[in-house]
Amino acid sequence: MATTALFPTFSTIHDPVPAAVDEYTTEHLVAANDALSHALANSAAHGLPDIMVSAPQGKCLMLLARLAGASNVLELGTLGGYSALWLSEAGPAVRVTSVEVDEAHKTVADANICAAGRQDRVAVVLGRAIDVLATLADDVRAGRRARFDFVFIDADKENSWAYFDRCVRDLVGSGACIYVDNVVRSGALSDEARSREDLDRGDARVWGVRRLVEEVGRDTRVDAVVVQTVGGKGYDGHLMAVVK
Ligand code: SAH
Ligand code: DHB
Ligand code: MG
Repeated sequence: MATTALFPTFSTIHDPVPAAVDEYTTEHLVAANDALSHALANSAAHGLPDIMVSAPQGKCLMLLARLAGASNVLELGTLGGYSALWLSEAGPAVRVTSVEVDEAHKTVADANICAAGRQDRVAVVLGRAIDVLATLADDVRAGRRARFDFVFIDADKENSWAYFDRCVRDLVGSGACIYVDNVVRSGALSDEARSREDLDRGDARVWGVRRLVEEVGRDTRVDAVVVQTVGGKGYDGHLMAVVK
C-alpha cells in the first residue's frame, strides 16, 4: 500500500547514522549516571519494552524542566521510571509525580527510584491516567496540592488530547510547559489516510496524535509547536506547549 511505503510503521526506521550521532554526543555530553544506567538495565532485566526516552531526550527534558524553573513535575506513563528519574535531575528540590496503569511497570519503577535514592522526590501513582488526573484536579482545587509547572505526557497516545486538556484546565498554571512524546510517529502524523486505515483496524494512536495537534492548534490557552526528532530511537517528535 502506498501509504505504508511512504510512512513505515512506527519503530521500523533504524537509520544507523542518527543512532551513531546519538552515541557520539551522549558519550561527550551526557555524563555517566549510575542510577539512570541501573534503571535501564533493571527495566530490561524485567522484560520492560525498550520504549523509554533516549539519553539525549531524557537530558533535553531535564534541561527544559530546569529552564522552566519547574519544581512540581507531572508525568503520565512511567514505565520503569527512566524519564521520571531524568526529570528529577532538573534540580535538588524538584518533585515528580508519575502515573502508571501497569502494576508490573510500577513495581520496576519503584525499585529503580529506590535504587537511585529518589523515593523522597519521585512518586509513582498506580492508575489510569484519566482517573488519576481527576483525583489530582480535586487535590489542586481543594488546595491539598500545588499546581504542576511541567508536564510530560507519554502514556496511551489515543488519549493525549484528553490529558492535555485536563492539565490545562485544572492542573497547571500560567507559564507551565506541557511536553507530549511520540507525536510524529515516523511521519504518520501527517498521513490522514493512514490514520483512517489504522482506526479501521482498531489502532487509534495516529488518530490520537492528529487530534492532539489539531485541537492544540485551536486552543487559545497555549502557544505550541511540534519538533521532529531523529536518533537512536528512530524518527519521531514531540509537541511542546507553554500555557499563556
Ligand atoms: N515515560 C517513560 C516511557 C513510558 S512508555 C520513559 O520515557 O521512561 C508508556 C507507559 O504508559 C507504559 O508503561 C504504559 O503501561 C503506560 N500507560 C499506558 N496507558 C496508560 C494509561 N491509560 N494510564 C497510565 N499509564 C498508561
Ligand atoms: C511506544 C511508546 C512510547 O512512549 C515511546 O516513546 C515509544 C514507543 C509504544 O507504545 O510503542
Ligand atoms: Mg514515549
